[in-house]
Amino acid sequence: MPLALQPSAVACGKVILFGEHSVVYGQPALAAGLARGLTLHATPLPRPRDAIELSIPAWDLDLRLTPDSEHPVARACLEVLAHCDGPVTGWRLEGEARIPCGAGLGSSAALTVALARLALGAVVDGEPDLDEVIAASMIGERVFHGTPSGIDSAVAARGGVVAFERGAPCQAVALGASLWLVVIPSGIPRQTGALVAGVAARRDRMPEVIDPIIGALGQLVHRGRAALTGARLDVLAELTSVAHELLGSLGVSLPMLDRLCAAAVEHGALAAKLTGAGGGGCVIALCDTEALARGVIEGLAHSFPELARAPASAPFAVEVES
Ligand code: MEV
Repeated sequence: MPLALQPSAVACGKVILFGEHSVVYGQPALAAGLARGLTLHATPLPRPRDAIELSIPAWDLDLRLTPDSEHPVARACLEVLAHCDGPVTGWRLEGEARIPCGAGLGSSAALTVALARLALGAVVDGEPDLDEVIAASMIGERVFHGTPSGIDSAVAARGGVVAFERGAPCQAVALGASLWLVVIPSGIPRQTGALVAGVAARRDRMPEVIDPIIGALGQLVHRGRAALTGARLDVLAELTSVAHELLGSLGVSLPMLDRLCAAAVEHGALAAKLTGAGGGGCVIALCDTEALARGVIEGLAHSFPELARAPASAPFAVEVES
């Protein structure tokens, strides 16, 4: 008997505050959830109910999920559903996305977490176990990204500020002061798997150079966590700038990301860094108030008018919530 689905489920997007890439090598990382990154609604299809349809207009995604599909989204979703208790057919899934797709904000993890919630929630007829949701999401994430650390799935499922370390339980981090971020999509597409592979290749070529950088990125996580809980935004700002420079030396920044960081700071942000895999994707700029964040967005609209042209990928402000 085909599995049913819950009527709707949500998942967070994410920004990595500290520890992207180094987390792949066992260092800790610190990330914040972007609330309601994706909401998926499931409705039964009329008979013969022999397909699953997935539509997320904001991501230009309109797919029929069939076993012979080679589309990575279809393959990832079908693997998640099979793991949850498949086969699932006869459903239309409509997604409302508040984060752009493929921009380093955890869109693939949000999709697989929301899907796992729909399916596992139906099995238990309620809120499914968080670790099971994360484990199911990881099955899809491996289709997208090869060998992800798991941080994206953990934050997409849990939300809030999360301290993550591979193989250890996640810890929620309480903030000592309010913190706003301006999330600035560069509009440059990139592939997480390829960027992770690029860092691995650089590390293979010069491990004695790259390993200390990976270690230093891990140290920034410890200091960043203390600064977040201790309300030391001045310290957090300095650590953020250092993180961006270190990520640049791993080869994952781009001139455009450097320019966006510099412009955000010029327009008043406390500091800025790339977030996620880099190579494009997004920059985050730290602000202590919403007014400052709005001012940074306004300033960026003058410096980079092209950014605001596509509303789905315009810079936006979020308050970081623990
Ligand atoms: C991607 O959001 C973060 C990376 O560290 C990859 C991973 O953790 O799997 C670049």
